[in-house]
Amino acid sequence: MPATRPGATGAVISGWGTALPEKVVTNHDLEKTLDTSDEWIVARTGISERRIGGSTASLSVESGRAAMEMAGLTPERIDALVVATTTPDRQWGTAPIIQRDLGLSCGAFELNAACSGFVYGLVNAHGLIAMGAERVLLIGTDTLSRITDWNDRGTAPLFADGSGAVVLESTPHGSQLLGWDFDADGSASELLWAEVGGTVNMDGKEVFRRAVRIMVDSAEKSMRHAGVTGDDISMIVPHQANIRIIQAACERLDVPLERASVVIDRTGNTSSASIPLALAAALEDGRIDHGDLVLLVGFGGGMTAASAVLRWGGEKGASA
Ligand code: UT7
Repeated sequence: MPATRPGATGAVISGWGTALPEKVVTNHDLEKTLDTSDEWIVARTGISERRIGGSTASLSVESGRAAMEMAGLTPERIDALVVATTTPDRQWGTAPIIQRDLGLSCGAFELNAACSGFVYGLVNAHGLIAMGAERVLLIGTDTLSRITDWNDRGTAPLFADGSGAVVLESTPHGSQLLGWDFDADGSASELLWAEVGGTVNMDGKEVFRRAVRIMVDSAEKSMRHAGVTGDDISMIVPHQANIRIIQAACERLDVPLERASVVIDRTGNTSSASIPLALAAALEDGRIDHGDLVLLVGFGGGMTAASAVLRWGGEKGASA
């Protein structure tokens, strides 16, 4: 889809924050309970260690508070809270707990689009601002360790816990969002799913094959809507599921791997948190400058995919 409708108010990210549980679980730790090895996990996934622990609400409060602090905003100034998660602490009502614990007084809801959830949330947050909200807090959090079968070597080495948040604020200048895409392929829903109250089921090989295709398709649509090519992208922030998926997607998109933000080695796959964690890492390492084009792209169970092209800091001087 094209970015913002002409005349609609645009948005920029004005703060971000992250939260990871303290407990580190290394591949060597997993070797003690699973028929696996550090060598296999690193070679096949790119993961060396992951963080496990906390609740979706507690991690969200930590990352959300950090994002508000960076944006210089007190809680009453936030107009809406969107929490992307596949692992709410309760069947319903997790976002309101986060709203309460952050001291917010705005509406709050959860959004579940599996590992694409953060990008779905990002586009929805722009939509809320186009409809009159001034400031939106978007948090992507997952505690996948709670829905992982720790006896299954096909999934246990992959999944982990974490949270990342951004504050979006309306801008009188042009929006940062230049193009976006949402995709879903329900015919692939049996490849990666979890029953309510159950653990993750995954056909890893087939998910891998389709993941590259659905990510690349979505990213190409967003870039087309934004009128840019892979050459123009300064930083790609992909879902962190497998380093080999990231490599294959970058290759097909003509974006050198050096321009990708990668945190999977130390975080594992944190689903809705993986893109904001990778975005924050790139920002903290000074790898994104004002005016850079940033491509966010996620895919996940369902299967879903979503992507967005952002002009970091917004289109200065352009009218909204
Ligand atoms: O958010 C989205 C979440 N999911 C994904 O993105 C998953 C996408 N898929 C993948 O990342 C990969 O398919 C996996 C990492 C899950 C598996 O890697 P693979 O290269 O596709 O391995 P494979 O399933 O083809 O298995 C290769 C071999 C098999 O042994 P044989 O049949 O060749 O003797 C497996 O039994 O590796 C074996 N194997 C393991 N060995 C050690 C499978 N899991 C493990 C393990 N440790 N943990």
